[in-house]
Amino acid sequence: MSSFVVAIDGPAGSGKSSVSKAVANRLKFGYLDTGAGYRAYAIWASENPDSHDFPYWISTDPNSVKVLVGEVDVSERIRTEEVAALVSEYAQRPKVRELQRQDARRRISECEAAGIVVEGRDITTVVAPEAQVRILLTASEGVRLNRRGLEGTESAENLVSRDQKDSKVARFLDAAEGVTVIDTSDMDFEQSVQAVLAEIARIRN
Ligand code: C5P
Repeated sequence: MSSFVVAIDGPAGSGKSSVSKAVANRLKFGYLDTGAGYRAYAIWASENPDSHDFPYWISTDPNSVKVLVGEVDVSERIRTEEVAALVSEYAQRPKVRELQRQDARRRISECEAAGIVVEGRDITTVVAPEAQVRILLTASEGVRLNRRGLEGTESAENLVSRDQKDSKVARFLDAAEGVTVIDTSDMDFEQSVQAVLAEIARIRN
């Protein structure tokens, strides 16, 4: 079980996923992308509206993030605009959030690496408020839209409306008590990774 938890929250396009994955890689920690769980759930629930189970699996290896729903590998499909447009609606539902919260906690406790980086919207406040390191990774809206535009994975309209809906059910637009804000608006990718590593080193030493 991982004894050291790094919790990272932030809005869409803040660079959470790529930065968290790189940090986990460098520290040889596990990595959990909780947004992937919500995205996979949106696919499953939209295609199986009457189902009560959710056969979901995600790896916690930062070198090979794989997401399965049943036997189907949805690792690429969850990143599509179609899924990005659906996901927030499901994330509003308290039962869905509870299921995801339990799933994330179980994966954190089962991860065998020395530590784990967990990223999402409610990790510092709800999923792992007791994490040793708690970070809000953010960037100005212009910078976030620009980054998503370069990736080509989501329209500006969808990103803005997703943040607006998501912020009704999770606190990630400002930092809760004890959470360190890292604003990456003026940082490139490597500087963002270094800023997170420095915060982890500050707590560990
Ligand atoms: O992080 P990502 O953009 O992949 O998250 C997809 C969606 O999953 C978010 O827009 C939000 O609706 C939901 N989510 C959440 N809580 C988390 C992670 C993601 O509500 N911890």
